[in-house]
Amino acid sequence: MNEERIEFLIEQANEARAHAYAPYSNFRVGAALLTKSNKLYLGCNIENASYTPTNCAERTAIFKAVYDGEREFEAIAIVSDGRNATAPCGVCRQVLAEFCEPSMPVICANMEGNYKILTLEELIPMAFTKEDMEKI
Ligand code: THU
Repeated sequence: MNEERIEFLIEQANEARAHAYAPYSNFRVGAALLTKSNKLYLGCNIENASYTPTNCAERTAIFKAVYDGEREFEAIAIVSDGRNATAPCGVCRQVLAEFCEPSMPVICANMEGNYKILTLEELIPMAFTKEDMEKI
């Protein structure tokens, strides 16, 4: 993944952030998910008065893509308006692990353009997957 591509994904995630519905936390997050077929899916966090049903930006993006029949992913970028580069929450890591390879880069950025890249496996080692449900 070259620098230009990384910056493009961060830029797109930052635009997705503008769609956030976050009246409770006031913490706005955007995600840009690139498929292996070179399509881009954007997501934002969508909160709820009952808090628990809140959907993170990463899951919004991946659910949109999966609905469209996409199953293979190249990279995801996440941008928040927080001081630090935002990494996906535990639930989103598990959802990403359902569809993405352990080596997939996860680009965690903030609005100032600071970012770090980790692989999905670094974020969720030993994720629970369908192989773990195989019986003896
Ligand atoms: N959030 C995301 O959308 N993605 C993350 O990676 C971290 C957390 C959202 C959920 C909630 O709307 C707000 O940020 C505060 O937790």
